[in-house]
Amino acid sequence: MKPRIRLLADAEFPLLFAHLCRSSDESGRDGDVIFRPRSRHEVMDEVVIGQRHREGWARPLREPLWLRTWGLIDGTTIVGHVDLTGGRLPAELHRATLGIGIQRRARGQGHGRALLETVITWAREHRLAWLDLGVFAQNSRARAVYRAAGFVEVGTVRDQFRVDGVSIDDVAMTLAL
Ligand SMILES: CC(C)(COP(=O)(O)OP(=O)(O)OC[C@H]1O[C@@H](n2cnc3c(N)ncnc32)[C@H](O)[C@@H]1OP(=O)(O)O)[C@@H](O)C(=O)NCCC(=O)NCCS
Repeated sequence: MKPRIRLLADAEFPLLFAHLCRSSDESGRDGDVIFRPRSRHEVMDEVVIGQRHREGWARPLREPLWLRTWGLIDGTTIVGHVDLTGGRLPAELHRATLGIGIQRRARGQGHGRALLETVITWAREHRLAWLDLGVFAQNSRARAVYRAAGFVEVGTVRDQFRVDGVSIDDVAMTLAL
């Protein structure tokens, strides 16, 4: 059956966490570029990450740091996700920052494009004005997918991250909704 995309609720956090662990583990390995701004030796803390998600999911869009997460659900497993985080200040609430990750086995089948279409439609319905994201310069697949969805590159911060000894330039992209 074709994977479905759905906004996630509290009870699905354990499934999301399992996906985040599997996806993070692929960063910089077996031919993948590094796509995560953390050391591969850093352990993901389920309690801390769970608390951040549940708090963000509960916040209305008029409050800073609201969070909404959609899962790409294949049977009983999450194989991809996309999320939007509201601005940190009240003056930034017309913008949201996008994050996305699809496990290797589910990539290259149009799911990235479908996840982006889902959140762009949702953001327009909720009257946001801009979507922002940061993408590592070497991640040419992700940059192409974002460009195809209408995102525009607005600048590059050189040496933004150093991950396990590798210096990474970060490209800022934005979409006017
Ligand atoms: C980046 C990512 C979200 C894209 O999702 P995806 O499901 O693999 O992408 P899709 O199958 O929807 O492909 C969309 C387009 O990208 C193109 N594409 C695929 N691989 C590509 C590559 N290596 N270089 C350039 N374009 C590529 C496809 O041809 C497709 O174009 P089309 O719609 O014109 O046919 C996904 O690969 C991913 O999660 N990668 C690992 C984590 C990551 O990089 N996250 C982003 C961090 S900023």
